[in-house]
Amino acid sequence: MTRIANRMAGLQQSTIRSMTARCEAVGGINLGQGLCQVAPPSSLLEHGTARFEELNHSYSYARGDAGLLEAISAKLAKDNGITADPANQIVATVGATGAFTATLAALFNPGDGILVLEPCYGYHLSAIRLFELTPQPVRLAAPDFRLERDSLRAAVTDRTRAIVVCTPANPSGRRFDREELGHIAEIAGEHDLLVITDEIYEYIYYGDQPHLSPGSLPGLAERTVTISGLSKSYSIPGWRLGYVTAPAEILAPIQVAADTLSVCAPTPLQQLARYALALPDSYYEQLRSMYDGKRRLLADAFTAAGMRPNEPEGAYYLFVDCSGLGVSSGWEAADHLLEHAGVATIPGEAFCLNDPGTPIVRACFSVPDDVLEKTALMLEKGRS
Ligand SMILES: Cc1ncc(COP(=O)(O)O)c(C=O)c1O
Repeated sequence: MTRIANRMAGLQQSTIRSMTARCEAVGGINLGQGLCQVAPPSSLLEHGTARFEELNHSYSYARGDAGLLEAISAKLAKDNGITADPANQIVATVGATGAFTATLAALFNPGDGILVLEPCYGYHLSAIRLFELTPQPVRLAAPDFRLERDSLRAAVTDRTRAIVVCTPANPSGRRFDREELGHIAEIAGEHDLLVITDEIYEYIYYGDQPHLSPGSLPGLAERTVTISGLSKSYSIPGWRLGYVTAPAEILAPIQVAADTLSVCAPTPLQQLARYALALPDSYYEQLRSMYDGKRRLLADAFTAAGMRPNEPEGAYYLFVDCSGLGVSSGWEAADHLLEHAGVATIPGEAFCLNDPGTPIVRACFSVPDDVLEKTALMLEKGRS
């Protein structure tokens, strides 16, 4: 007899994966899943190919390969304004996802409330539910998705223990500014909340303002668990490399949880990751300019087809208002786009606990330019 744990209630195969299956069935263009279909830096692949045999193919320390931890510590100091001792303040994990699940497992008890800024990344919601925690949505209103102090304060209850911040955000593309992070610092301080940040898109942003890590700010450093990873910055999501940094006393149980959940991140790939972290600043400039070009191509395609894409500040998704299609929900909009144009997107509802109120879909532009050009033609054709 099949028995399913109570904690699985409300968890189902993500909308993203089911949309991928539907898209494959009709041979469509998949802008649904955030697959990251751009090539990794060729010099990284060459470096790895030349050295693969001589790498460590056993387990690493539970906290990670020593050389990688040193490199992450240096990068945190240089790019994030965060001081982290590689000996006891950083753990390498199986993706940012592994860092997030280990953090939830280590720090919270069933029933604890976790604030999420809605629209939010679906895996955050699923992981919160998997650990029998209660997601508490803080609504960010379209089209700006700004975090207002009063909405944040109003969402806190006596069960609230933490707030999750994703910046740059998936799916809205928001990069929370100093004022918004100030609201978080103020309210987290008032209620003694932990702040868990997911900064996986930290190097993918548009405009001149460098990435702002919440954990670098006064009032947040001592209560922030900072998570990031290599999937998006180096287009290597299959390598499954992420990391987490926090004050030593917060990180110690996270390390035990990460060890219990997965022993360590893939050791040879951890060793190769040191090379990626040493890439020059020009690498990141090129990455941003490549994504900026893709962002514009896809935004123009949706605009030309009568929809209203947002202008994301970071990450590689457009959030597109599809009211122009005469539909009344994101579900209907995504169905319409798949059926009429053969383009798979994800309904906005998949990122929200509450009704988003507008027919919005998310479209990923981490795909080759020729796919974006074809998307433009298909969207145009889908109108007629
Ligand atoms: C906000 C966010 N966090 C984490 C991940 C996954 O990161 P990783 O591949 O490091 O597990 C994604 C992937 O889409 C994401 O959008």
